[in-house]
Amino acid sequence: MLDSRFSVDCALKWNNVSLIDCLNKYGSPLYVMNANQIKENIIMIKKSAEEYFDSVKILYASKACSFKEMYRICNEMDIGCDVVSMGEIYTAFQSGMNMNDVYFHGNSKTIEEIEFALKCNVGVIVIDNLEEVKRIQRIACKQNKIQKVMIRITPGIDPHTYEAVSTGVVDCKFGCAIRTGYALEVFESVMDSSHLELVGFHCHVGSQVFDSVVFKKCANVMFEFVAYLYQRYSFKTLELNLGGGFGVPYIESDSILNIDDVMKEVFDEISLLCHTYQIEIPTILFEPGRSIVANAGVTLYTVNSVKRIVNGHNYVAIDGGMCDNPRYALYGSKYSVYCANKMNEKHVLKCTIAGKCCESGDIIAKDVCLPESISEGDVLVVMTTGAYNYSMSSNYNRNLKPAVIMLEDNIDKVVVKRETLDDLIRNDI
Ligand code: LLP
Repeated sequence: MLDSRFSVDCALKWNNVSLIDCLNKYGSPLYVMNANQIKENIIMIKKSAEEYFDSVKILYASKACSFKEMYRICNEMDIGCDVVSMGEIYTAFQSGMNMNDVYFHGNSKTIEEIEFALKCNVGVIVIDNLEEVKRIQRIACKQNKIQKVMIRITPGIDPHTYEAVSTGVVDCKFGCAIRTGYALEVFESVMDSSHLELVGFHCHVGSQVFDSVVFKKCANVMFEFVAYLYQRYSFKTLELNLGGGFGVPYIESDSILNIDDVMKEVFDEISLLCHTYQIEIPTILFEPGRSIVANAGVTLYTVNSVKRIVNGHNYVAIDGGMCDNPRYALYGSKYSVYCANKMNEKHVLKCTIAGKCCESGDIIAKDVCLPESISEGDVLVVMTTGAYNYSMSSNYNRNLKPAVIMLEDNIDKVVVKRETLDDLIRNDI
């Protein structure tokens, strides 16, 4: 959303850098990220967590936005990260990230990915299923390594966000349900594996969570399980990962989640649980993605045409679309949009921002207000696009992925180059 972080001096500015100047310098469309904001978000989350927990780790869920500079920032800010594919492992590795702080997730890891993870000395692999236990054991054995692992638990909690990102209910593709006995089966199998060292458990129930009760419920289920394993097997859980999912506002009417309050409430709950079960508080991990990068990114587009359909919508067609931001098409997500070069004009004309891909579902936002004079050549800024935009972009219709630039203080620099036509056909025979 447009807030006090942005200044308007005819054109929209961020960190005192004119977004229109950026577009003219780097081309359109353009992802603009802000390193100061990313670091501020990390510091805020880290500080709140450290205020309450004696031992706590923050992992950046790098699926939210993954390129080398993001992992460099994590390293610099002394946080770890969560990766979910060989590609994310490779990018983290190539950035010089401390691989010990990298946690490898995923519900369907291939042999090649596990071999690669071990070769790159990934700190912890988060096991999703029984087959994986055997597979990691076999590969660790072959590479003569003891691999630290966690088990992903499905706690049976519905966070009541949108279905595509709800991951904690028993009937879902992720993790091991406690209720069905599967989690225990996987636990026993890991304990029987000579080359696996179990450090603890993980859960993540969904994204865009605005209710701290969800995290407290997770803590309850997880600690009941942890306490049971302690009593029955004398197994001491060293790390407990409560996942990410902190909700972020995209439009004025969205709620705001106070992460500091969440940390306090979760800490109080965990202290009580550990006291009740007579166990020590393990190291607690959180792995936020969206709350670290969402408000640290905007996307700039150029208007190509405006169709004012009588008794219909006003379609403002831009030079990007679902290829660089598929979130409206996938989830009906809402965004705040402004005309960056006409900030002084009243935004009163209701418009639908249409992408350039060949399907009518290719929309960036519906019913947003733009200036009455909106026309060809104007620049639109779509706010809060730092999370799950660049990382979910595609070459649909063979569109080129935009560049990503990073602002820090008053400096702007390219962190991902714009794709070229040659990039597109690089692997074509
Ligand atoms: N940990 C795990 C295991 C996850 O699966 C996720 C997100 C996170 C952490 C980070 O969640 P966050 O803090 O970013 O909410 N593409 C969707 C979001 C998918 C989220 C997938 N998992 C979107 O654009 O809304």
